[in-house]
Amino acid sequence: MSAENKDKKPVEGKHEEDEVDKLTEAMKDVKLGDKEEKTESAFKPLSSNDIEGVAKYILDGHAKNIIVMTGAGISVSAGIPDFRSPGTGLYDNLEKYNLPYAEAVFDIDYFRENPKPFYEVVKGIYPGQFHPSKAHYFIRLLAEHGLLLRNFTQNIDTLELIAKIPQDKVIYAHGGFSKAHCVGCHKEYPTDFVREKVFSEGIVKCDKCNSCIKPDIVFFGESLPDEYFSCSKKDFPKCDLLIVMGTSLQVRPFATLINAVGDSVPRLLINMNAVGVKASFKSEGIPLKDMMFSGGFAFYDPDNHRDAFFKGTCDDGVQKLADALGWGEELKKAFEDPIPEFKFEH
Ligand code: OAD
Ligand code: ZN
Repeated sequence: MSAENKDKKPVEGKHEEDEVDKLTEAMKDVKLGDKEEKTESAFKPLSSNDIEGVAKYILDGHAKNIIVMTGAGISVSAGIPDFRSPGTGLYDNLEKYNLPYAEAVFDIDYFRENPKPFYEVVKGIYPGQFHPSKAHYFIRLLAEHGLLLRNFTQNIDTLELIAKIPQDKVIYAHGGFSKAHCVGCHKEYPTDFVREKVFSEGIVKCDKCNSCIKPDIVFFGESLPDEYFSCSKKDFPKCDLLIVMGTSLQVRPFATLINAVGDSVPRLLINMNAVGVKASFKSEGIPLKDMMFSGGFAFYDPDNHRDAFFKGTCDDGVQKLADALGWGEELKKAFEDPIPEFKFEH
């Protein structure tokens, strides 16, 4: 995971100073009083830039290859904290580990030095302890209605599997717990063995080289799985509706995918706050971290022709969309599904 999606570089958060430099550079040629350029009568795929407009677009048969991009916010109602929400997010609750910076808990170089904070933190999110949210079941309904091209998720909680979203429709961009390897000699270890040791001993060592064993979660400084790159390349040109839910869009390369759909493909964001917003004069008041300096959502621009934002919880957003599609009861019923006994299948 990284700042730029070049050469399959690893994950990294955004650097605000770079972003300010980019904005300054972009604004250099703007003269006092210049008006913003408008796109010439841009094609408008949505009757209205909101959930109702998106529902109509789907009901009219325009969305047959929907991509859903998800982050930690879709699992918050399931009882798993997200990472960056002030106060409640995981990164605001790591004081006791004395980390040099919060994201170090998922940093490969830091893990090699001090793996204990990771093993402690991971106990709280190990699969098998949580019931999926309505948002997970909504993604399954999209698949059952034959409309889901792919769900690209950053989440490692495996709730997609428990909600029975067909696993060939899910790309686990930041890996998961279904496999585990030694970070020294790369020997593979059974996932059940690793889980048992994490809970009983708080640390898992390789019997061959004595390095630590880590579930195949993608850490900062590591590359994303090959299928993330192959599928994003193949899928995004085909996408006719993008739904983004419960992510701060702070981590690349995942965040940049919102710009990989065609220019007139509608994009719906369901989130507690506006994120990934196109930086312009109109995005005044949006914190820098929630802006994008290349691409981004045009919610606040007068020439916004295809971006819709539902401000609220993912569960409320998907219920509203399901109601507008006539799937409201189906979603409520799916959410009441008993959860199967947890086991990795992929
Ligand atoms: P973040 O914690 O960065 O962002 C979660 C987003 O969801 C925020 O914008 C919240 O406002 C929003 N949110 C929280 N609860 C919500 C709810 N109930 N309904 C709707 N929105 C809600 O999580 P991610 O964007 O997923 O990496 O973080 C990306 C990556 O950073 C993660 O995959 C993780 C982390 O470091 C690794 O674990 C490797
Ligand atoms: Zn080893």
